[in-house]
Amino acid sequence: MGQRTPIFEKLLVVGTATASYQIEGAVNQDGRGRSVWDVFSHTPGKIKPGHTGDVACDHYNRMTEDVQLLKQLGVDAYRFSIAWPRVLPEGRGRVNEKGIDFYSRLVDELLEAGITPYPTIFHWDLPQSLQKEYGGFNDRRIVKDFADYAEILGQRLGDRVKKWITINEPWVYSILGHLLCVHAPGKKNPWIALRVVHHTLLAHAAAVERLRNVLGNTEPSTGPRSKSPSGNSPSSTSARTTGAKAEGHKHDEEEVEIGITLNLFPVYPKSESKKDRKAAGMADQFVNRLFLDPLLKGEYPKELWEKFKLLRPKVSEEDMRRISTPVDFIGINNYTRERAEYRYLIPWAHFYLSGMDVPEREYVKNGVQHTSMGWEVYPEGIYELLSRMRDEYGNPPVYITENGAAFNDELVEEEGELRVHDPLRVDYLRSYLREVERACRDGCNVKGYFVWSLMDNFEWAEGYNKRFGLFYVDYEDGQRRIMKDSGYWYRDFIRNRKQLFES
Ligand code: FCB
Repeated sequence: MGQRTPIFEKLLVVGTATASYQIEGAVNQDGRGRSVWDVFSHTPGKIKPGHTGDVACDHYNRMTEDVQLLKQLGVDAYRFSIAWPRVLPEGRGRVNEKGIDFYSRLVDELLEAGITPYPTIFHWDLPQSLQKEYGGFNDRRIVKDFADYAEILGQRLGDRVKKWITINEPWVYSILGHLLCVHAPGKKNPWIALRVVHHTLLAHAAAVERLRNVLGNTEPSTGPRSKSPSGNSPSSTSARTTGAKAEGHKHDEEEVEIGITLNLFPVYPKSESKKDRKAAGMADQFVNRLFLDPLLKGEYPKELWEKFKLLRPKVSEEDMRRISTPVDFIGINNYTRERAEYRYLIPWAHFYLSGMDVPEREYVKNGVQHTSMGWEVYPEGIYELLSRMRDEYGNPPVYITENGAAFNDELVEEEGELRVHDPLRVDYLRSYLREVERACRDGCNVKGYFVWSLMDNFEWAEGYNKRFGLFYVDYEDGQRRIMKDSGYWYRDFIRNRKQLFES
């Protein structure tokens, strides 16, 4: 990639991402309560190789050392998530001081290292006590409990943390966790799943309201009632000045931004048949528009909602008004594209999304690289999504909050040094970043980019076998972290970008 390309000027924030249950371990330490993922991962047969997040990368006990990894990469920002049951072991009420203290120390370490913290308030590890008491997100009571939790975080960390992501991938949490039974809490019920969809959105909205009260009001840029639907609010414009960067994050630290992260992927028809094309349209409404439309247009996608008449929850106008409360940004997690085909036997939806089966390792099919998750490498997809945000949703500020790839990495010893040669991951990141760059050049409102992930970790239903990290984690050898070639590549990418601002 050429060094002096527009992406470096426009893309101010570059970082990496992780999530609490995937890296922290220490599940019984310092008063942490149980989460739905503790229960699910200990349920026989749920996680492929029988792994759990009990130890994970032991990040809870190695946090200081892990911040050094971020420093080595030279990132501007770090996206991590906060484990709700560490802060509130019962889900509400009593605050576990040791738990909140851990995140407070993490934030201090990051700021000390010149790295802007981007915490996610909920990345799926719901306190088990709330699941047990009222079914978690299946019940509207979750909205208040989630908002209370968010408010506590705002009060305790808001003096130093200005960037907040309310919920990670509510689609995955609702659908994989409540319809397909492959994630916690392991339900298989379409009525529950759609209630969870609605309640995650309401919980997000309530958290935004509370956080704004604690952190002070910002001038939000999205949503049907936003003052500046183009995203060119005074705050987002000033955030784009290169000068802000040269001042060393000063600006970033001051500007409050609250958003939500969605997993989006372009859906293509499996064939050109009319039925498959229609199936792709429905699948797009189901995976992408199910969350984008309520948040940014104040309504569920009509055709899909009509189809789900018998399944969908009661939704009031007031709900939709709250859900579409403007936010400061939309976070997008994108890895691949999917293909949809018509299947009569699939009730209600009548479409089937391929790519749900996970292979042993990466492969090439018809000349196209697939990752070890079986995900097609399709960099143009990220461009398509960003253009779609520009053209169909008023060009709100967007962060790519996750992008990355799992490959079967091997640790090798060369001249007494441990190395991981992962050219496929370097190619992946380079090609996706190029497309992000192209989108920036074509007027998309991109504010930042985070690689998933800082280090290898517990990849949910796949356990530890799928490695996404820029650092290799040697689980067998004292949890050693080894920078992969892709880590060196990302470090150089960031360095070259920085030279631009300094010159
Ligand atoms: C996303 C999740 C993240 C990680 C990546 C690979 O869906 O948000 O935790 O597992 O996929």
